[in-house]
Order: sequence, then C-alpha cells, then structure tokens
Amino acid sequence: MLPRELKKGIYWVGVIDWDLRNFHGYLTQRGSTYNAYLIIDEKITLIDNVKEKLYPEMIERISKIVDPSKIDIIVQNHVEGDHSGSLPALLERVPNAQIYATGNADKALKLLYHRDFNVKIVNGGDSISLGKRTLHFVPTPMIHWPDNMVTYCPEDKMLFSNDSFGQHIASSQRIDSEYPLSTIMEEARKYFANIVLPFRKMVVKALEVVKSLDIDMICPSHGLIWEKYIPEILEEYHMLSHNEANDKYALIVYDTMWESTRKMAYAIQRAFNHAGIDVRMVNLQNDHISDIMTEVATAKYICVGSSTLNNGILPSVAAFLTYLKGLSPQDRIGLAFGSYGWGGQSVGIVENYLKDCGFTIMDKIRHQYIPSKVDLDAITERVSAKIEEFKEEK
Ligand code: FEO
Repeated sequence: MLPRELKKGIYWVGVIDWDLRNFHGYLTQRGSTYNAYLIIDEKITLIDNVKEKLYPEMIERISKIVDPSKIDIIVQNHVEGDHSGSLPALLERVPNAQIYATGNADKALKLLYHRDFNVKIVNGGDSISLGKRTLHFVPTPMIHWPDNMVTYCPEDKMLFSNDSFGQHIASSQRIDSEYPLSTIMEEARKYFANIVLPFRKMVVKALEVVKSLDIDMICPSHGLIWEKYIPEILEEYHMLSHNEANDKYALIVYDTMWESTRKMAYAIQRAFNHAGIDVRMVNLQNDHISDIMTEVATAKYICVGSSTLNNGILPSVAAFLTYLKGLSPQDRIGLAFGSYGWGGQSVGIVENYLKDCGFTIMDKIRHQYIPSKVDLDAITERVSAKIEEFKEEK
C-alpha cells in the first residue's frame, strides 16, 4: 500500500497489522494499525513509528516519499513497543536525528532498549519549528503510560494523539468517513474501556486542552483518522471519561456448572426487563473479557454470577473479575449471585470483588442446588424490588 497524503506535505506512513488478534490480552478481532506520520518541511519529521518486526514496511513506505536518511526529527509521543519498536533500526539510518519526547519517555527508552538516545526532553507548552510549520507538545501522562504526550500542528490544525482516540482496526481506509462509523465508535469505546479507563481522570484534563485547540484532523496511533466525526469522538470520550453509565442498561455476566446459575441469571434478567431496563446477557464460556469490558463502560448495573467450585469461584469468573478490578470502572451497582451444592462460598467472593471495584452493592442471591420455577420467580421479585429501591434513591 502507498503512503497516504493527509494534507499537503503530511503523510500517513504507518503499517497495517492484519494478523493481530491479541494485544496484551485484549482481543483484537479486527487487527490494528500502527500509525506513523511523515511531515515534509525544512526539517523532515517522523511522528511515532511501528513495531520492530514491521520496520521494513514502514521504511519502504517512507522511501516512496523521501530518502529516509533525510529525516531530521523523530517525535516519540509514546514509547510502548508498538510505537517505538522501530526506533533502534531507524537510528541506524539516521544516527543524527533529533528525538523529541517527554522526560519519562527518555527514561523508559533506556530501560526498553538498553542504550542511550539523543532525546531532547519536552515539557508542556514547548514547541519547535520545522520551517513552515510548528509542533506543540502536550504531555498526557497515563494515557496510556507515564511517558505519553500528544503533538499539535496549528498551521495544519492536526493533532497527533497517539493512543488517545485510537481503535484497533486494520483497514485499507485511513479516514473516518471512509469506514462504517458504528464500527469505528464501537472499537474506540472498546479501546477506551480496555486501555484508558483506569486513567479517565487524566482524560478529563486532556480533553479540556484538546477542546481549546483548533483541530480539523485527529491522527491517532491506531485505526482510522478522525476528520468528519471529531465532535462525535470528543463527545464519546467526554461521556466515557466522566464515567456516565446508562441507568437503563444492565450487564449480567456469569458462568455455570449445571445450569442453575444460568437459570438465576435469566430470572434476574426478567426483573430488569420488567423495570424497562435493557439487558445484555454474557456467558463467560462464549465471550472474551475485553469485549465484556466495552459493555461495562456504559452499563449501570453489573451482575456477576458463579457457581461454587472447590470452595471458590469458577476460573472464568475469576479471570473476568480480576480484569474488571484492574480497570476500575467504579460508580456502578453490583449484584453477586450463584448456585451451590454445599459450602456456597462463590457468591461472597464475587461480592467482595464488586465491592473492591467501588460498586454500590445490591443484596447478593444464593441458591442451593437447582432452583424451581417458584424459586426463580422469587428471585425475579426480589431483584425487581431492589431495582425500585435504587430508582427511588436517585
Ligand atoms: Fe499503542 Fe500504549 O501503545
């Protein structure tokens, strides 16, 4: 694929990773891209780069525009391997290129690659001239690592946002208007829920800065470039970063040994349906935890069920709860439920996880052996009453 000119003299020179299906545990069914951007000015500048193994493809793309050895400046917005992996190889071509990055990036680069780099450390408010254009640097620590920053070019009204506003999508298209918007938004939401969610307070601050800039193109390091739908993605990030869960949406996540916990899940579903609240049912045998997190980002009610196994919880539920707790969604209403034969420890363990997540807790529901229809109706009634109580408390 050829490089793509986004604005006069500014090119996408990244790489499309069609094969990627797992990004440190995050299921990437649609693959991804590692976006790098080349600016042809008096100082030729490369913003970010790609995974080490994909360096030949990036350099070939750059070579179609300019001799790569003429690169003067490398902006390293973030040092995670998907954006800095090609840096050592690139520096063999351009040993005198000046790297611009944050202080945290400088420290991390040494620890990642066990060598020194020619880094000019930048702070918030710093800018450099490329000739006709300038680049302004805005640190955005913890979106996604401590080293992150975004780079803004006012002359072209372009924001090079790195992980922020990214989506894991491999596609031939580069611009948002060329690809189905619902899919881009879904993947942007999934990206936020799985990568950015723990740092949402930082996103609130960063969004204030972004909104103060005159932008007509947001160029992230993964997925499609935002041009037509900038208001939509800013609104989505506003909602997600302010943790605005939907009161009319409940998520019921469970695994089951002998169908009893599954029957309880469906009894709980009926209670939400009666209350006019939409439900998404997730059997952990069928769905990946990174897909479930996309729903956690917007659902107000999070119900988690597990049968008791060996005095504990089912391994699939343990994996989900560990992941959930790490991503720290908070400010949700949690309900633990499950069946058991004797001991019955699972529900208490699930509830403790939900408490650790910072959720408000509904009374837990346990049932010994197989629930009858009468038992299931009683569960529906009990949850219905609790939902009404929560509604009244609001
Ligand atoms: Fe896309 Fe935090 O790397």
